[in-house]
Amino acid sequence: MTAPNPDTPAVETTALRKIYPGIDGPPKEALKSVDLSVKPGSVFGLLGPNGAGKSTLINILAGLVVKTSGSARILGWDIEKNMRQARTAIGIVPQELNLDAFFSPREVMELQAGFYGVPKRERRTMEILTALGLDDKADVYARSLSGGMRRRLLVAKALVHSPPVVILDEPTAGVDVELRQSLWDYMKELNDAGTTILLTTHYLEEAEEMCDEIAIINHGEIIAQDTTSALLARLDRKEAHITVDRDINSLPEGLSGPGVDAEIRSPRELLIRFPPSQVHMGTLLDAVKKAGLEISDLSTRDTDLEEIFVALTSSSGDGLPPTRSGDPQAGTLEKSRTRPDP
Ligand SMILES: Nc1ncnc2c1ncn2[C@@H]1O[C@H](COP(=O)(O)OP(=O)(O)O)[C@@H](O)[C@H]1O
Ligand SMILES: [Mg+2]
Repeated sequence: MTAPNPDTPAVETTALRKIYPGIDGPPKEALKSVDLSVKPGSVFGLLGPNGAGKSTLINILAGLVVKTSGSARILGWDIEKNMRQARTAIGIVPQELNLDAFFSPREVMELQAGFYGVPKRERRTMEILTALGLDDKADVYARSLSGGMRRRLLVAKALVHSPPVVILDEPTAGVDVELRQSLWDYMKELNDAGTTILLTTHYLEEAEEMCDEIAIINHGEIIAQDTTSALLARLDRKEAHITVDRDINSLPEGLSGPGVDAEIRSPRELLIRFPPSQVHMGTLLDAVKKAGLEISDLSTRDTDLEEIFVALTSSSGDGLPPTRSGDPQAGTLEKSRTRPDP
């Protein structure tokens, strides 16, 4: 199925709102007024901490949760007025591993293909299972599959009708490093072949590695939407850790300037934060040397999404990242799970 117009967003929501009725407590407004626009052909990340409203949004798109107000379109098809076209345009990989234990992967795929009315001769059951490394498990009961295999089967199942838009809700939550990498590779392959990917995640590393564009959601509100590189550049901040050959008595003169913030971390270690667009790193190193210190080690770190998230959600709202030792009130995103802390 093709989009009515190549510029039509793959996914678009307008003032989308969801209020869950409270059972024991007050009603919960899970989505406040969400405007989102996903470019066709992109890998788009919806990044936010647990409880932010990611699954609610995805489940509305999937037709599993009924919105309270606002609208949503998939490739221009309204999820309510053009429900059939909208459902055909997307493949959804849910967060929960909801598979019938007594079906084999082959049966799961065939049932799903039947559900979407894919003619037998057009079915790609084994091709998709093979691509996800499940070909040798095609005929075993789903209940005997490992968690990682079930996750892959959910991805396979979402692809039976070759949807132009694939939506994955926390595709790598709780999966091991190896599977995560292979799922990422497979998502990239799908995207290279023209599929638009919308994924939700609370892992910063996943958003950074996978996504062309990111929307950050917190408490049911989109607080930023931009290209990944623009988001990362938004906070003009870099850190330099400098180790020197002798104990530092006082901060070298010259480690100052607009936006420069230096501190002595340990007797022989300096931490300098600076805005790279205004202050040259060479200038800072010169200042250290001028103070008679010999630099024995140096490492730098760019701003990461966590700092951006914290800056965007911090009450001060001055747009500057708090210090690392600060007490960010909303630091509940998960940091990289593979990179060691710098
Ligand atoms: N069926 C439901 N009934 C009531 N509240 C819900 C329901 N589903 C989710 N919520 C609440 O809505 C908020 C958003 O949840 P969810 O969309 O699952 O967030 P996320 O996927 O980002 O973790 C949370 O506060 C959650 O407790
Ligand atoms: Mg969720």
